[in-house]
Amino acid sequence: MERPASPEGVRPQSHYSALEAEKMDRPSSVATSADHPALREPTTQYRLSISGATPLSLDDVQAVDVQIRDLSVVVDTSPSWLEPATYPQLFKERRFFGPKKPSDKTLLHDVSASLAPGSLTAIIGGSGSGKTTLLNTLAERMSSPRLTEAGEVMFNGVKGVQSARHAYVMQQDVLLPSLTVRETLRYSADLRLPASTTADERRKVVEEVILELGLKECADTRVGSTQHKGCSGGEKRRTSIGVQLLANPSVLFLDEPTTGLDATSAFQLVKTLKSLAQKGRTVITTIHQPRSEIWDLFDNLIILTKGSPVYSGPMKECAPWFESQGFKLPPFVNPAEYFIDVAAIDNRTPELEAETVERVSRLKAAWVEESCTRYGPNTTASETEANAGHHKQKSSKAKRKKKQHATFFRQLAVLTDRTFKVTYRDPLGMLAATLEAVLMGIVTGYIFYNLGSDQSGIRSRQGALYTAAGLQGYLMLMFEVYRLTIDILTFDREHSEGCADVVPFLLSRRFARMFTEDLPVPFLFSVIFFFMAGFERDAEKFFIFFAVTLLNHYVAMTCAMSCVAAVRHFPGASLIANLVYTLQSMACGMFIQSNTIPVYVRWLKWITYTVRIALSFDILDLF
Ligand SMILES: Nc1ncnc2c1ncn2[C@@H]1O[C@H](COP(=O)(O)OP(=O)(O)O)[C@@H](O)[C@H]1O
Ligand SMILES: [Mg+2]
Repeated sequence: MERPASPEGVRPQSHYSALEAEKMDRPSSVATSADHPALREPTTQYRLSISGATPLSLDDVQAVDVQIRDLSVVVDTSPSWLEPATYPQLFKERRFFGPKKPSDKTLLHDVSASLAPGSLTAIIGGSGSGKTTLLNTLAERMSSPRLTEAGEVMFNGVKGVQSARHAYVMQQDVLLPSLTVRETLRYSADLRLPASTTADERRKVVEEVILELGLKECADTRVGSTQHKGCSGGEKRRTSIGVQLLANPSVLFLDEPTTGLDATSAFQLVKTLKSLAQKGRTVITTIHQPRSEIWDLFDNLIILTKGSPVYSGPMKECAPWFESQGFKLPPFVNPAEYFIDVAAIDNRTPELEAETVERVSRLKAAWVEESCTRYGPNTTASETEANAGHHKQKSSKAKRKKKQHATFFRQLAVLTDRTFKVTYRDPLGMLAATLEAVLMGIVTGYIFYNLGSDQSGIRSRQGALYTAAGLQGYLMLMFEVYRLTIDILTFDREHSEGCADVVPFLLSRRFARMFTEDLPVPFLFSVIFFFMAGFERDAEKFFIFFAVTLLNHYVAMTCAMSCVAAVRHFPGASLIANLVYTLQSMACGMFIQSNTIPVYVRWLKWITYTVRIALSFDILDLF
């Protein structure tokens, strides 16, 4: 086979996987593209072994050249049944069916840029100018049927971000507050790094990341939250970057990493980003109001105004370009603030607005021309070929994702260990669960104290059984819904990054809490209530009573999970939980004989869990 002359030449061969392309262009790899055996002899055997190899060391960086050409994003804002937020408009326009009135909003308009490996690129612009939209489009995190994209983004000549190892650091830090920085990174490494890595290798990568990001001082400090002070804002942000860096990305996307930090931390952070870039990574970040020292660290700039670029190129050429347009940077002025101001529309008065709109459209028009000469017209010829490549990348990505994933059992073990740690580091939470069981047992036990066996006693016994079957589970249901709405954020992030699955997550919560909560809470309640209420002192009957209470506890836990799966925030999830609970307590047959419920809603008894429990008590003959 003829050896390709350029990295682009490597791309569209149908038999290459994404990882091969990665390996070939990696300058610091031991096997360089020139002597890569797969290039000479692309046999299946070689491909498999190459895909399996994982460059773990942070020094092993693949150089990725990012080319953005005429990238546009349009969103369809016409009212639709699929968008509940647009219902008022839908009713106002009374266009329920038939052809829609087209109303598109351009979020990005013809953005072009060339971002070389080893460079730090800043996307700047006023609020709402489309910075996050551009970043998310590059990172392929914009997914909505109402969005239309045009133009192309090439990573080493291959369309689509999946062909390069990449990571995205979100604007908010989603970390577990009770873990230390080192523990956070270790658990992430255990979840994120491929199944083939050993524990020692993973520990080594974590230590490397700690050193790389200057987290040594705070490695054993808890991350902390607003209530419990821990790491500073800057350290937390570094930890978030560290979590992403574990996968050794070649392209790193960050959304406003300095927002919310003080000036010094922000400067330190951007310096860290710069050093990450200097190792050969392509770092792309949106940034809000960078101070002038930070400005000097950038290699490339993309300045946006209402989705259109007014400059996109090397930082050094930015001031000369604006000067050629008649906007000379005055001395002692922060360049970032000056250029953002020049490109902003001021709508305080109609006159000012007219003037600034005119200025901005002039700048935009000038840049369109300049952009054409710098980046050339859109090359549609390569489109089909690139598309074909893209699909291939996609399928190979699916394969890769499978490989890089920690196995089911490792995820289960890691998540269980982590949840266990988080649980016992929160002694108040554990105490609350235990106290709840004891207090609930004593209070209800006292209310139903020593029930008699006469007519009124039997009625009270029914009430006592309902309390045991229903109320105890209700409190735990609410408690679990509340805790899940907090813990699910970390899971959601990990799940979206493809390193944690649903089943291990759900199972791990129950395994981790089995001995701190799931067994003791129903047991304590059962012991106290069973004997205080004066049920028959028979070991078999007690253990069946306990088993039913335990089952009830688990049903409440799974119900909580379903509610949080439906809605992520506490008000919504608890509303669903209450609805389910109310329905099931009404239809369970305690308050009304289930065969007298009107036939159309009688099926409700089958979705109640207390009906089963009441039945089992009946069998028990506790009356
Ligand atoms: N999915 C979407 N649907 C409709 N409008 C959107 C969508 N995403 C972003 N926008 C709009 O695009 C503009 C730019 O948003 P964004 O990229 O978040 O700005 P920035 O990050 O620069 O503050 C905003 O006016 C926002 O309302
Ligand atoms: Mg933003």
